[in-house]
Amino acid sequence: MSKYVPFILFVAVAGFCSSLAVADEAAFDKIEPILMDHCYDCHGDGMGKGDFEMDNFETVAEHLDNFDVWYEIWKNVRSNLMPPAHKTQLKTEEREKVLAFIESKVFKIDHENPDPGRVTIRRMNREEYRYTVKDLLDVDFPAYDVLPADDTGYGFDTIGDVLSISPLLMEKYLEAAERVVKKGVPTNGPEIVEWWPNLDSFKDTRSGDWGGELDAF
Ligand code: HEC
Repeated sequence: MSKYVPFILFVAVAGFCSSLAVADEAAFDKIEPILMDHCYDCHGDGMGKGDFEMDNFETVAEHLDNFDVWYEIWKNVRSNLMPPAHKTQLKTEEREKVLAFIESKVFKIDHENPDPGRVTIRRMNREEYRYTVKDLLDVDFPAYDVLPADDTGYGFDTIGDVLSISPLLMEKYLEAAERVVKKGVPTNGPEIVEWWPNLDSFKDTRSGDWGGELDAF
């Protein structure tokens, strides 16, 4: 029995793949007439204006693998650059169909179930660290002296992916934290101010002579 398992698996996987390919072909068959009407005059049937051919493929699967070609088509259709202005333009729903086809079948974007990707947990860069410390503890911390310059990505120093923490940098941050705490948090509890009034100021400076006024009571 077990010797059949690989075979059954193979048939199942092959069947799954070919049903995907069939679905792709069916989707392409709906789109191709739009491209034939509006593009192939100049980019098909042997025409390659702008060095761009759109029907130069053996199988639909191979065609859909050609990311660069479809990306160019997507850009030009989306921005209304093609067909050229003097030619009949795509109707809005035709344009939307072509774009949706490219997005789902070539770019593999699933509109129903979008995948936003992962979010990188990020640390502050030293500039952000400095200002946060200032806001929270009112300590003007010399971040530029203590922490090394942050790495940049795409020209920015706020990209989570490049703001990594090496063991050495971790030590720097611990050192920074100690310095900040030393400056920002008082270690000798609150001071109670003592003050004594001058007791002499309450004394009656007149001599012991009360002039008999007390007699009235
Ligand atoms: C009347 C002829 C004509 C039709 C129809 C036409 N194009 Fe073009 N296309 C051109 C010419 C000419 C160029 C080259 C000129 C240029 O690069 O500006 C070009 C260039 C392109 C390029 C290459 C642009 C680049 O940046 O290299 C793409 C992609 C393209 N067309 C896509 C399309 C698509 C998609 C359609 C149909 C929706 C279409 N074209 C319909 C004439 C046409």
